[in-house]
Amino acid sequence: MTNPSLLILPGDGIGPEVMAEVRKIIDWFGARRGITFDVSEDLVGGCAYDKHGTPLHDDTMARAQEVDAVLLGAVGGPKYDSLDFSVKPERGLLRLRKEMDLFSNLRPAQCFDALADFSSLKKDVVAGLDIMIVRELTSGVYFGEPRGIFEEGNERVGINTQRYTESEIDRVARSAFDLAMKRGKKLCSMEKANVMESGILWREVVTEVGKDYPEVELSHMYADAGAMQLTRWPKQFDVIVTDNLFGDLLSDLAAMLTGSLGMLPSASLGAPMDNGRPKALYEPVHGSAPDIAGQGKANPCACILSFAMALRYSFDLGDEATRLEQAVNAVLGDGVRTADLLNEEGITPATTAEMGDAVLAALDASL
Ligand code: NAD
Ligand code: IPM
Ligand code: MN
Repeated sequence: MTNPSLLILPGDGIGPEVMAEVRKIIDWFGARRGITFDVSEDLVGGCAYDKHGTPLHDDTMARAQEVDAVLLGAVGGPKYDSLDFSVKPERGLLRLRKEMDLFSNLRPAQCFDALADFSSLKKDVVAGLDIMIVRELTSGVYFGEPRGIFEEGNERVGINTQRYTESEIDRVARSAFDLAMKRGKKLCSMEKANVMESGILWREVVTEVGKDYPEVELSHMYADAGAMQLTRWPKQFDVIVTDNLFGDLLSDLAAMLTGSLGMLPSASLGAPMDNGRPKALYEPVHGSAPDIAGQGKANPCACILSFAMALRYSFDLGDEATRLEQAVNAVLGDGVRTADLLNEEGITPATTAEMGDAVLAALDASL
């Protein structure tokens, strides 16, 4: 039997720093659990532009289509701000999502016990929080046509188009209902059906799909009210399904419920392949964090937890995923903190590598 294959794309900024810690953990699973991956590494984002003049080389795109899963660090940075839009680092990531057809983006927001005091919200609001945002990832205003900057009379106009077909809404809704069935059987769909036709269609299709899931309690909320409710009492939610742009905003908001963007992983899943597993890309929700890049300050947990999601969703290793998640929980319980998880002066934060090593030690202790 061949080993499962994993393409690693560390990317820019803190991407390579956090990915170095994940590499140690992948090695640990090989050495201590006999779970060996065929790992290959390639470029995406600004570093790919530097080498190839494009943020995603066609060969890299082809490799991403072939492997069992892709693990990505982060892309972007101020060095690339003045590049033409078509070759910006972020375009590489968007191409991966689009061409792999990764329509269902799972962004869990889980409050680790040890961080309940750290959130900017009151402890009882976030303690024990465990919600899942399902963000549509391959359509909507990110990709709709027409788009561009055009001359109109004596000024320019910037245009993006929110566009959703019934089948696009249907498939992401089904993925959210399927998840809700495995969790608390509650799904809240968020759009702005009060002002957008795409929102009206979204609500209709989600309601229709809901008829196939009578056990799931379905509710609808306008996305602006949803943002308010997420900060007021987030534990009212179990699974949330929403479009590409609202999902981008709401998942960053949800990240802060858990304490830090540095803690939030994600899985971007497509339709099942021949082996029954979905096409998949795993990445932290955070970006390349140019303000702390190159200083050993980045929290590697979001990337480590993204690998845990890969173990669960791509490799059917749910128990090993839980082992890794519990190792992160144990490390936080021991008080190990990178700088983003500290608000008191006078405590020396753990470096990126120290946090990774602490997770390795907790994995050892789990055996
Ligand atoms: P960001 O997520 O990079 O940073 C926001 C803030 O969170 C910064 O203060 C940063 O230091 C902090 N932060 C983020 N991740 C952290 C971690 N692991 N540990 C500790 N602190 C962390 O968002 P931004 O500053 O808006 O964007 C920077 C660049 O990243 C932009 O080019 C943007 O387009 C890109 N970006 C990429 C992705 C991705 O690759 N998936 C996601 C978001 C943003
Ligand atoms: C994210 C990021 C991306 C997005 C950017 C970098 C393209 O913010 O993954 O949340 O907007 O989807
Ligand atoms: Mn985002």
